[in-house]
Amino acid sequence: MSLPEHTARFTLDPDFTVGPVDPRLFGSFVEHLGRCVYTGVYEPGHPAADAEGLRTDVLDLVRELGVTAVRYPGGNFVSGYRWEDGVGPVADRPRRLDPAWRTTESNRFGLSEFMGFLRKIGPQAEPMMAVNLGTRGITEAMELVEYANHPGGTALSGLRVAHGDKEPFGIRLWCLGNEMDGTWQTGQKTAEEYGRLAAQTARALRQIDPGLELVACGSSARDLPTFAAWEATVLAETYEVVDHVSLHAYYEEVDGDRDSFLASAVHMEAFIEEVVATCDHVAARLKSGKRLTLSFDEWNVWYQRRPNPHPFEDWQEAPRLLEDVYTVTDAVVFGSLLITLLRHADRIAVACLAQLVNVIAPIMTEPGGPAWRQTTFYPFAQAARHGRGTVLDVRPVSPAYRTEKYGEVPLLHATAVRAEDGSVTVFAVNRDRERSLPLEVALRGCGLTRVVGHSALADADPEACNTLAEPERVVPHEVAGAELSDGVLKAVLEPLSWNVVRLA
Ligand code: AHR
Repeated sequence: MSLPEHTARFTLDPDFTVGPVDPRLFGSFVEHLGRCVYTGVYEPGHPAADAEGLRTDVLDLVRELGVTAVRYPGGNFVSGYRWEDGVGPVADRPRRLDPAWRTTESNRFGLSEFMGFLRKIGPQAEPMMAVNLGTRGITEAMELVEYANHPGGTALSGLRVAHGDKEPFGIRLWCLGNEMDGTWQTGQKTAEEYGRLAAQTARALRQIDPGLELVACGSSARDLPTFAAWEATVLAETYEVVDHVSLHAYYEEVDGDRDSFLASAVHMEAFIEEVVATCDHVAARLKSGKRLTLSFDEWNVWYQRRPNPHPFEDWQEAPRLLEDVYTVTDAVVFGSLLITLLRHADRIAVACLAQLVNVIAPIMTEPGGPAWRQTTFYPFAQAARHGRGTVLDVRPVSPAYRTEKYGEVPLLHATAVRAEDGSVTVFAVNRDRERSLPLEVALRGCGLTRVVGHSALADADPEACNTLAEPERVVPHEVAGAELSDGVLKAVLEPLSWNVVRLA
């Protein structure tokens, strides 16, 4: 064991909680982008494809990953999308240019196919649909909700029935556009323009289906100059007619500054707290007792500055785009982003890992070939499985290290979730690249007596990753030595590691 001062500590007490975890915190995202849909989830003719063309090997991995809400169909894609193109007989569907990603969209996969995909994932999968508020508006959004959710007897609901979907889809969760503040967004709007359109759309959609849960677009990134002013303006218009405001954040290592990259969660945490503060400020101004929750509907590690290693021509169909290969280092950062989401479970209602397959994704596929798990698959799957219940208030005291971007940052990043049966899972990241970090957790009033297991994702090679050639190079391993006695858990966190310690 190292010197006592190089030890991280915290106390768990079931009386001190953050709040319950909304299962939708483990959501994901399927966009018509690159190979997420085509040759990702959907590949008719693949040896593992079912009668609907869905890859059953991918479906198995999606179930294992444990995703809940799945956002669809974009992303930037939705801001130029006509939902009608993706319904009805496949042979009649038009091929269209997708201006967002400069590709060609065949529309062989659309709303009905997406809902079929979700049904096959299982009952935990819930759709989160985005409407196009870039090139379209209130009418088209209303028409989509009528098509999707109205039982029948009208032109649009009847069309759905005629298309073979007798039962309404019952989609509750809707995004009012995507990243409408972004200069790259087709039909970008000012905060005033968007706020008014989003509020009017929200009211119109609720007139059709009062039970909807609606997400207003927040900022596409915390570092944009319009951040926070955008939220304040948009929410001043929409506060009483929406349920959540969105956040998007992607992280990457810049100029070899790995120490700052490992502390990315500091940025994410500040982002969440600033959006919460902005929401509550608007509530105060409006004298509203309502509290908005957050939809962190795009988050991940994404190497946006790297050139695409797969050259492609404009207007190709389903080219290889954004196919980042994730290392052990990426998985540790990713794990700490998950910890951040859990640590704010009191205000985060929905979070979507962007994206699900092939495109900055935990699951990769080869056309006609196998599917495999990236390093980031494991933290997500473990958190989605064991992070159910109530988040306990964890206030670590930890040795720290210096970072260029964020100053002094604790080496330990941690949270803990208490399940209904009283068992507790500790999720912890050791940001130290060189040294192990001893961890001591005082368990007060938890009634816990044993360590069920300590799993870690770490590797002697921080660049290790899973590839087509070596799909299982990186997998979590069991760590010996964690012990619980006299109400204290002691465990050692390997250098640069993601850890899951389960207590019962
Ligand atoms: O997830 C990839 C892209 O990132 C999405 O299309 C967009 O919303 C964001 O900028």
